[in-house]
Amino acid sequence: MLEGFVPVAAASELPPGAMKRVVVGGERTLVVNVGGDFYALRDVCGHAGAPLSTGDLVGYVIECPLHYACFDVRTGKLLSGPVSGDVATYQVRVE
Ligand code: FES
Repeated sequence: MLEGFVPVAAASELPPGAMKRVVVGGERTLVVNVGGDFYALRDVCGHAGAPLSTGDLVGYVIECPLHYACFDVRTGKLLSGPVSGDVATYQVRVE
């Protein structure tokens, strides 16, 4: 294992378009595969804390299941919705 990285899943578990909720260091984290590229972000919507892992993933956009805020999984940037902040993202390494 490389310093600072935590194994969370086998790449084969997450085909393109799939997502998986994991816990890293006590933090709810969402790992997604978009077109063969993997991204990780905090699995907590910045509005009212809903788990983004139960939302819909369409391309690079994850939609919160509660009030439909949309975030770019690549950057965590808010795209639309009743939220004032972005969602934290994390580096991903595939070995
Ligand atoms: Fe996500 Fe309200 S909890 S938009």
